[in-house]
Amino acid sequence: MLSWDDFDNDDTPKKESKPADTKTAQLEQQLNHVGDDLANEARSIQADDSEDVRRAKAALDELDIQEGLDDLEGTSGRVQVDDKQMINCRADLNQLVPFKYDWAWQKYLDGCANHWMPQEINMTADIALWKSQDGLTEDERRIVMRNLGFFSTADSLVANNLVLATYRLITNPECRQYILRQAFEEAIHTHAYQYCIESLGMDEGEVFNMYREVPSVAKKAAWGLKYTRSISDPTFQTGTEETDRQFLRNLIAYYCVLEGIFFYCGFSQILSMGRRNKMTGVAEQFQYILRDESMHLNFGIDMINQIKIENPHLWDEGMKDDARQMLLQGTQLEIEYARDTMPRGVLGMNAVMMEEYLKFIANRRLVQIGLKEEFPNVTNPFPWMSEMMDLKKEKNFFETRVIEYQTGGALSWD
Ligand SMILES: [Fe+2]
Ligand SMILES: [Fe+2]
Repeated sequence: MLSWDDFDNDDTPKKESKPADTKTAQLEQQLNHVGDDLANEARSIQADDSEDVRRAKAALDELDIQEGLDDLEGTSGRVQVDDKQMINCRADLNQLVPFKYDWAWQKYLDGCANHWMPQEINMTADIALWKSQDGLTEDERRIVMRNLGFFSTADSLVANNLVLATYRLITNPECRQYILRQAFEEAIHTHAYQYCIESLGMDEGEVFNMYREVPSVAKKAAWGLKYTRSISDPTFQTGTEETDRQFLRNLIAYYCVLEGIFFYCGFSQILSMGRRNKMTGVAEQFQYILRDESMHLNFGIDMINQIKIENPHLWDEGMKDDARQMLLQGTQLEIEYARDTMPRGVLGMNAVMMEEYLKFIANRRLVQIGLKEEFPNVTNPFPWMSEMMDLKKEKNFFETRVIEYQTGGALSWD
């Protein structure tokens, strides 16, 4: 085991008190100088250097530091808060601080605090129920299958869009820090679905291909892919009015529609099942995922609104109409998905109630990005869903975790 005591054996005399500022500056200068000399000495070719080491040292002699700095994304120099921008920023993107968007950094911290892994959740009861002849009705089995089919690939679509397009085009380091966290969470979600599918012994080929083979699932995937096609092209650049708008449409498509609407029929169906004490392991996985997703959604909305503030010319009537249409198309697709997954009433819900719930969600998404509600007089038929997303209450949720918790550890169901 590594001990820090091993590193305390250097001969540097330890100062008890801190010297005055000018003295510190002088000392720093001296140390820099000594440091440079020692580094250069290390670079000099020694008699016992092998040919390979000589070549490595010689190659570094030719390293042009300025050339490296010129290659940095954004202009070099110390970054000031006012230099920072969500898109098309020209300041150095490797300097995380000073923070401009505290909400992004806070979400990064909150995301880390909520870390979980799929193997922590006990799936024993689900396996028994899934395999028993009369454990679930045909309608309930359909819901489990369809949702694992949709989600197992949907999170990969989101992750690919995030890593191959969004990350590059968002030019702010604290937002990128959260995007990296989100990307890992998407990997955990795909892992969770794979873990459910494997635990239940489902036909993997059938489940993972639903996004191509089952129309109500395929339509949602195709709708999302349409918005990622152009911007995941590595030559795509923001910086013109048209490309900035294209990127903004992508953010609305992925954060507000895919993560903000397309997940909600499935989440409420599976969580309703868990509330009825059926498939509780799958439901618990979905509950952790829902909590992550509600943070992704809020982060996306914050980004979209910040881009609007910084680029008011982009948010004109045409763009507002586009955004509204996207949210309404997404709502319509999700209503169709609800009908397909719930041809009859099941789990105390039915397609009519789900339609009302989705209209309630659509109203919220519209208002969150500054647009008017579309559906008057709709109420939330599933108020318990808000409780599941409420972060304060979800703190208690964590207390139900396996006590002997070890990140990355696997539980044995034997
Ligand atoms: Fe996800
Ligand atoms: Fe997500």
